Amino acid sequence: MSLTTRLCAVLLLVSSSSAEILNKSWWNNTVFYQVYPRSLYDTNADGIGDLKGITLKLPYFVESGINAIWLSPIYPSPMVDFGYDISNFTNVDPIFGTLGDFKILVAKAKKLGLKVVLDLVPNHTSDEHPWFQKALKGDEKYKNYYMWADGKDKDDKTPPNNWISVFSGSAWTYAPSQKQWYFHQFDYRQPDLNFSNPDVKEEMQNVLKFWLDLGIDGYRVDSAVFIFEDKELRDEPRSYAAGATPRDYTYLDHIYTTDQLPTYELFGSWRKYLDEYADEHNQDQKMMVMEAYTSFPHTMQYYDYDVTPFNFMFIINVTNSSSAQYFKQEIDLWMNSMPKGDIANWVLGNHDNHRVASRYPGRLDQMTMLSMILPGMAVTYNGDEIGMVDLANISWADTKDPEACNAGIEHYAAISRDPERTPFQWDATKNAGFSKANSTWLPVNANYKTLNLLREKSHESHYKIYKTLAYMHRKEPALTEGSYRSFTANNGTVLGVIRNSGSRTVLLLINFKDDIPQQVDLSAEGLPPKMK
Ligand code: GLC
Repeated sequence: MSLTTRLCAVLLLVSSSSAEILNKSWWNNTVFYQVYPRSLYDTNADGIGDLKGITLKLPYFVESGINAIWLSPIYPSPMVDFGYDISNFTNVDPIFGTLGDFKILVAKAKKLGLKVVLDLVPNHTSDEHPWFQKALKGDEKYKNYYMWADGKDKDDKTPPNNWISVFSGSAWTYAPSQKQWYFHQFDYRQPDLNFSNPDVKEEMQNVLKFWLDLGIDGYRVDSAVFIFEDKELRDEPRSYAAGATPRDYTYLDHIYTTDQLPTYELFGSWRKYLDEYADEHNQDQKMMVMEAYTSFPHTMQYYDYDVTPFNFMFIINVTNSSSAQYFKQEIDLWMNSMPKGDIANWVLGNHDNHRVASRYPGRLDQMTMLSMILPGMAVTYNGDEIGMVDLANISWADTKDPEACNAGIEHYAAISRDPERTPFQWDATKNAGFSKANSTWLPVNANYKTLNLLREKSHESHYKIYKTLAYMHRKEPALTEGSYRSFTANNGTVLGVIRNSGSRTVLLLINFKDDIPQQVDLSAEGLPPKMK
C-alpha cells in the first residue's frame, strides 16, 4: 500500500489472532477532555472563564465526540497556583460561580450523556485554608493536620532536612508563631496535609462524598505521588542530574518524598470507598485517575490498587525526535505491563506541559490518530483538538505561573506553564470569542484570527480529523473491543497499529519520514496487499 501523506488510517476487512482486550468500566473507550476553567469561556466579562461558560459549551463537547470532561480545580482559592491551592474543598470559587451553577452544569451534562469528573487535590491546602490558619495559631488539632518539624539547629535558619520543593528551594518554611518548620512539596503557600493523621483521612473522605452526592462521576487525583513522606525525615541522596543546582527539584533523588507505599494503600482505600458508594447508590463505577509523574514500575503499581495512572508517555518519554521503533517499544511496554483486562489511556497534553501541536510540530494529526486508535481512553487537553499552540514570548510582567515566578526573570521562560494555558480560540472576534473583557487573565494568542474553532468547522482541519477519530474511538467495534498489535515497517520509517474485531480491522500507518512517500508491504503483517 502506498502512503503518500504522513499518515493514514484505513478500515478494512481481515481476521487476526491476537488477544482480546476486555472492557472493564465506563471510561474504557472514552474521549476524556480536560477543561481548564479559567480559559474555556468567560460569561461575565471579567477576563476569566467560569462555570456558566463551561455549561454553555457542553453541547460543543458532545458534538465533538467527547463523552467525559474533567474540570481542573473550581474550589475557593487565593489562586496562587490557579486553584491547586484550595482554601475550601467543598465550595466553588466566586470567580467561577456558585455551587448552584455547578449543580446546573452537572444536570445539563447528565442530560447530554456527558460524565463529569473533578480534580481532587489531597496533598496540600492553601495557607489560607482555615485548618492551616488555626494551625498557625497553635491549635493542636489542626497543627496535626500538617507536617511540622524542628530545624536542624533548632533555629530559624536551618530546615529539618535537605528536601527540595517541586517549585525549587527548601520544601520547609519557618513559621515564627510555632518556632517550627512546615513542609510543602510545592509553593510555601501550599502546606502539605499530614495523612498519617486519621482525622485528615476522614476529612478527605468527606470531601470525596460531598461531590459524589452532587452527582459527579469520579476524580482526577492531583499530585498523587506526593501524599506520604518518610516518617524519619531522612535526607534524600543527590541525583547528579546534569545541570541541576542545589535549589532545583531535580538535584535530589526523591526516594523519601514520593511513591511511598502508604500512598498507594490510601488510594486503594478510596477505590473501595468509591465502589461502595456506587453500589449503594446503584450508579456506574466512579473513575479515579491519578496524576503521577514517576518511574514506570511505580506508575504500573497504581493498577495493583485498582486506580488508573495517567499515561504521560507522549509527553515525557516519547518526543518529536523519537523513532517509530521507540514509539512502538514504549506503547507495547504499557500494553504488555498493564494487568490484563485493565484500561490503557493516552494523554496528549495538559495544563502543565507544552501543547501537543508545539511539542510535535506538524504532527498533531498523527498524535490525535494514535491516541484515538490505541486501546482504552484518549485524553485531550482543551484547545488541542483545534491545534492551539503555545503562546510564545509571554513577558516576565505578564507571567502568572508560580513555578515560573519562583524561577526568576532569567529562567522563567524555560519552565513557565502559562504558554499552554491561554484562552480557548472560539472564533475571530475580540479575544477569540472567549471573553468580552478588555483584557484576559492571560493574553489570547494573536494567531486566533486564523486559528479558531469556527474557521476549522468550515475547512479541512485538525478539528475535523479530531471529530472523526473521536467518533470512531467510541463507535467502531475494531476500536471499542478489538485486539491490538503494533509493528514497524520500511526499516523503521513507518509505525503501524492494527486493531481488529471479527471482520473489522482498523489499520493506522504513520510515516516518520516527513516528505518521503512510503510504499508499505502489508503481507508480512498478515494483511491483504489491496485494501478498501
Ligand atoms: C499538579 C497540577 C499542577 C499544580 C501541582 C501542585 O501537578 O497539575 O498544575 O501546580 O499539582 O498542586
